[in-house]
Amino acid sequence: MPIVNRVADLQADIQVWRREIHQHPELLYELDRTAAFVADRLREFGCDEVVTGLGKTGVVGVIKGRKPANGDFKVIGLRADMDALPIEEQTGLPYASKNPGLMHACGHDGHTAMLLGAARYLAETRNFAGEVAVIFQPAEEGGAGAAAMIKDGLMERFRIDQVFGMHNGPGIPVGSFAIRSGPIMAATDSIDIKIEGHGGHAARPHKCIDSLLVGAQLVTALQSIVSRSVDPLESAVISICEFHAGNTRNVIPQTAELHGTVRTLTPEVRELVEKRVAEVVAGVAQITGAKIDLTYERGYPVTRNHAAQTETALRVAREIAGEANVHETPPLMGAEDFAYMLEARPGAFIFCGNGDSAGLHHPAYNFNDEAIVYGTSYWIKLVENTMAA
Ligand code: NI
Repeated sequence: MPIVNRVADLQADIQVWRREIHQHPELLYELDRTAAFVADRLREFGCDEVVTGLGKTGVVGVIKGRKPANGDFKVIGLRADMDALPIEEQTGLPYASKNPGLMHACGHDGHTAMLLGAARYLAETRNFAGEVAVIFQPAEEGGAGAAAMIKDGLMERFRIDQVFGMHNGPGIPVGSFAIRSGPIMAATDSIDIKIEGHGGHAARPHKCIDSLLVGAQLVTALQSIVSRSVDPLESAVISICEFHAGNTRNVIPQTAELHGTVRTLTPEVRELVEKRVAEVVAGVAQITGAKIDLTYERGYPVTRNHAAQTETALRVAREIAGEANVHETPPLMGAEDFAYMLEARPGAFIFCGNGDSAGLHHPAYNFNDEAIVYGTSYWIKLVENTMAA
């Protein structure tokens, strides 16, 4: 396998960092230990600049190549995420989480360690023209850490002109990559609905407005948006995942609450679904007489890969993994806040095979250390190929 030879030497160190980070998971922006660990390593490697506190707890390391940039792109941004999840780990591993209730269940420990490995190699060899900014972001899991770093001037301050991201993929064989041009992950919006009916005796429903029944109608009616308003060749998901109403068998509840999520792959479908949700809620309020309060909040945008950078990523992934091990993936309806970086700069997001592991966000999940050499080699080759010295 044409992984970078030096990476095979570095594998043991990268694995040690990965397991160290794994033992000490931290949430969202509260990454004191993890961010300090990353910044210490980057300084040790001899990065030309290490900046902390960007987007609260984000870290950026700058590595200058042996020559000034000679191509179209002068600074390439490589991004990893550092945060863990509020999940109780059930792996039974000797290096399992030491923080009760917290766990690296999305492999961000592996992402961080692999990018550290690439930074070490790049700082050692500097066999490229231009600059590399290694970006370690906080709060990927729902806190929009990428947006926070961009707001703090990430792109301008480091003059980043293209940006790349990577996530491990359970179910994708180790040593394989998966990517596509265009939308690769969905936009995610949230729906919060409060229903105010008129409670009363279960035996006198005609004197009530049954908020539970109103909620049930809403759950059903909202499903008709995907099946009857969205073009069948487009993609959308509406999942109502919480329904709270009532607390005893003979009382019609006064109020009910629904919470759910909307996933879409284009701005047009996103717009349409948001509009239809409001119309359906207004319609159900009208036919039932209940007062229904809708809060529709937009979350992460669509993660959209740019065509030229996807080609670059494909070329590099094929070089490392071989033609047969680089696949086109269909879009996923999960979301990823690297989307904000791809809105700010051209770039591409790729999946690196994690083998037959438990799924992301599962208590038995573990990042696969055998993937380290592939992910790290991808970062290195991406720099050396696109910014050849
Ligand atoms: Ni993740």
